[in-house]
Amino acid sequence: MLKEGSIVRAVEITQKNPKSWIFQLEREGEKSTHLGRIDHDKIIGKKYGNVVSLIKGHVLLLKPSPRDFLRSFRLKTQIMYEDDCALACSVAGIGNGMKVGEAGTGSGALTSFLAWNVAPDGHVYSFDINEKHLRNAEQNIQMTGLQNIITFQIHDIRESIQVPALDAFFLDFSTPFEAIDSITPSLIGGGHLICFVPNWGQVEQTVEKINENEALELQQVFEVNRRDFAINPKKHIMRPKFRSIVYSGILIHTIKILF
Ligand SMILES: C[S@@+](CC[C@H](N)C(=O)[O-])C[C@H]1O[C@@H](n2cnc3c(N)ncnc32)[C@H](O)[C@@H]1O
Repeated sequence: MLKEGSIVRAVEITQKNPKSWIFQLEREGEKSTHLGRIDHDKIIGKKYGNVVSLIKGHVLLLKPSPRDFLRSFRLKTQIMYEDDCALACSVAGIGNGMKVGEAGTGSGALTSFLAWNVAPDGHVYSFDINEKHLRNAEQNIQMTGLQNIITFQIHDIRESIQVPALDAFFLDFSTPFEAIDSITPSLIGGGHLICFVPNWGQVEQTVEKINENEALELQQVFEVNRRDFAINPKKHIMRPKFRSIVYSGILIHTIKILF
């Protein structure tokens, strides 16, 4: 049952390019759309999956996923897209109750995936050297309702950090190899370090640095490939889309070992 404080994604019901809006329900709250006003009080008491009529159309009420959140974020930086975020969380086994770190925060895309996965009992420590990026990410994260389990800090991650022992750390900026030595002491034994970089040269420098660090054991280096399909049953169309993002970056997965 949807109540005050629930987060809702209202999706326009239409054949072509449906628009959607994510918001947190408040008593007497409202959301303006091109279909007319969405009155929060009329949604409170309904369920995800219900359809609501507006003046010029209908919207479907859904529970937003991290993918929906990042597609609604204001982007000030390059981000890690959903496939990379999801697989990074999966290989590091991120789940409820874990404590994880990341740098840089960027626009908060990976942050939202991490918080979603460690919620409700875990915590995300998110660092960025650039205050404007950090404040924008903080603003973006408000729509997820997960802000209470994230600590944002302005910090150059090449310098050591003060955090509880972490289950995993994620590095997404141009020179992760410069932060490997500062991050490693914060990881628990068996903890995961994931670096995301777009260029081969960065992979080489990062792997070299990992190999020099006796407390780290390189696990795998890989990229995520995805092929979206165009589907139109009426025209019997089912084939890969002609245009799509063909490359985002490389994931480097490492584990902390204890002696
Ligand atoms: C590509 S963005 C990160 C995107 C983020 N993972 C996301 O999914 O939205 C890189 C970020 O790293 C930050 N950055 C660069 N050097 C840094 C450093 N030494 N310490 C902390 N953050 C840094 C930049 O300010 C930028 O916001």
